[in-house]
Order: sequence, then structure tokens, then C-alpha cells
Amino acid sequence: MKKKTPVIFVTKPILPPIEDFICSLKRIWENGIITNNGPFHIEFEEALTKHLRVKHISVFSNGTLALLSALQALDIKGEVITTPFSFVATTHALWWNKITPVFADIEPDYLTLDPARIEEAITPRTTAIMPVHVYGNPCKMEEIEKIAQKHKLKVIYDAAHAFGVEVNGKSIHNYGDLSVLSFHATKVFNTIEGGAIVSHDSNMKKHIDHLKNFGFEDEVTVAEPGINAKMNELQAAYGLLQLKTINKYIGKRKVISDKYREALKDVPGIHFLKDVPGIKHNYAYFPILISKENDRMSRDKLYNKLIENGIFGRRYFYPLISSFPPYKNLQSAERENLPVAHEVAAKVICLPIYPDLDLSMVENISKIIINHAKN
Ligand SMILES: Cc1ncc(COP(=O)(O)O)c(C=O)c1O
Repeated sequence: MKKKTPVIFVTKPILPPIEDFICSLKRIWENGIITNNGPFHIEFEEALTKHLRVKHISVFSNGTLALLSALQALDIKGEVITTPFSFVATTHALWWNKITPVFADIEPDYLTLDPARIEEAITPRTTAIMPVHVYGNPCKMEEIEKIAQKHKLKVIYDAAHAFGVEVNGKSIHNYGDLSVLSFHATKVFNTIEGGAIVSHDSNMKKHIDHLKNFGFEDEVTVAEPGINAKMNELQAAYGLLQLKTINKYIGKRKVISDKYREALKDVPGIHFLKDVPGIKHNYAYFPILISKENDRMSRDKLYNKLIENGIFGRRYFYPLISSFPPYKNLQSAERENLPVAHEVAAKVICLPIYPDLDLSMVENISKIIINHAKN
């Protein structure tokens, strides 16, 4: 019988040990509290605050609702400068708040918003900047802060990829007015679906907590039109268990990332992003850029070659958000405004990386790439 080729996806979620989760479920069944700021929710927020070394955290049912609520919490209106090189939820969160997204280009080393391009995009209607720590790579936060201060703009970081990343010993989530996380199944740290907003003072945390619960301040007071974005007790209990193992699993990701770097370092036409100095990374993604283009080799040819071998990399982030119908007619979406983003979107493949990925498979994937690049 022919051996079936295993199928490898770009990521695979880590789940907590089932016996431990059953114990948590038993406690939930005993408590009879399944949502609405129950004991697991409270414990999870406290544990996350300590783990990420931040002042305040509000957990959410998913990252998109956290982004929508972060914009509401700061009462952002008008235009917001953001990146086209991200997952669509970043821009959708602006659109749902009736804010006009203004795309600025990314810089070529780490693929985050280029501060010089941000400054050029500011108009009298600009109220905020929403950069993304894409692949967990920190944005140029000091420069962005200076621009924000100079022009009196708010900064909301989309930190969906950046769980636990530290810069010079400081949590990345301490930067900006708010920092928004996703705990979706595809992320380094998952609560199946989930997300969070990191805030820096207790009044803001309270405000965010009201917003995610319909705007209720107490039993009889609804001070503003909030939404239902609460994390339930099952997700919070699951997340608490995930926190126990996250550091070990980020360590495993690093081993895989190092192995790819070593295997692919001298392959002509294949580049990867430089290590960011002074950061503790989370190794959320392993993007490579393919600069060779001929009859046999191109990004899409390599992408398809990998699929032929059962390896499902992803062309994150292609197409650019600015190319999608809801946004493509914006002036800032014009190709000439976004040359770096267009170039990178045409060259990138994210290779499989997740803690359970066998190192022999990393070797196989690298070999397929090396053989293909020889052509
Ligand atoms: C950059 C970015 N922002 C926002 C989101 C939305 O998060 P969620 O899927 O938890 O709603 C995601 C991922 O899904 C993302 O990758």
C-alpha cells in the first residue's frame, strides 16, 4: 500500500493536557458560572497581567472585537494611519468604527510601518496611528511615539502576533495608548478564540471592561453603547492552563526557527528577516522572501512545489489589505504609495512553524526549497 504523505500546515495549535482541562471543567460545573466575569476570568486576567508584565489587561472573546473596542475606548474618529501588510481585521476594525483607513508603506527590514511614511500621511483629520507588530517584529516604537506626541495622535498597536515579545527587557505591550492581542487558534498563545487589550491606568481598564459588557457600569446604569465581547469561563480556564507551558513552547519554536535559518542561509534567491537586536522574540512565524524569478522558480512556483509535497505554507500577507474591494479605491491604497508592501507581498511565504513540528520535517521542507532554488 502506498504510504500517505503527511500534510503539514503553516501552524498547529497547542492544546492544554486534556486531563487538566477536565479538572477545570469540573470546577466550572461546580461553580455553575460559565461567563460574565466569573472566577476563571478574574484569575486569568491576573495571571496574564503578571506573565506579560503589564499594568492592566481586559480579556475579550476575540482579537477583532478587542480592536473594535480599543478604538471606541479612545473615541477615535476621522482618519487613522495603518499598514496594508497585515491581516484584514486590522483595517476592518477601523471601517466598522466609520474611520477612514489611510495606508502608509512598510519599511523593508522588519516589514512594520515606516515612521517616515506615517509622518507624510498625516492630515488635519488624522487622529491616531494603528501599527502592527507584524510576525511579532516590534514596530519602531520610539519613533512612532515621537510622531504621535508631536501631532497629538493616539497610538493603538495591533499586537495580535506579539504575545510575550519584549524589547530591551520591557514588554512590547507597554507601548502605545493601548495594545491589542489575539488568542486565536493560529496564534502563539491561544484560548481557541480570544483576545485582550492592555491598558496602562485603572480608569481606562474600567472603561474597556464596561465597553465589552454592553456598556453596563452597574446593574442599572448603561453609560455608553457597548458590545458583547466577553471571554467565557471555558476559554479563561483553558488560557490559564496554556500559560503554564507557553515559555517551553516558545523555546521549541526558537529551535525550529534556528534550524530553518541554518539550513537556508546560503540559498540563492531566498532571504529571511534579520534578527531584531535586543528583543525576546516569540517566533510566531517564519517568513522567507523569494527574490529569484525565472521559468522554474518564483514565489508562487515554490509555494505550489511545497503544496505538491503536502507542505501548506501561507503567503501572509498577500494580497495586501489595500488591494481588497472595500479599500482599493482609497487614495492611499494606490500602488505607487505602497511600493515596499507590494514588493514583499509578491515575494513572501511563511513556512510551517509550531512547537510540535518535527525537526526532521523542518529538514525536509528546507531540502525541497534548496532543490527548487537550484533550478
Ligand atoms: C494582525 C492581526 N490582527 C487582528 C487579528 C484578529 O484576531 P482574531 O482572529 O482573534 O479576531 C489577527 C488574527 O486573526 C491578526 O493576525
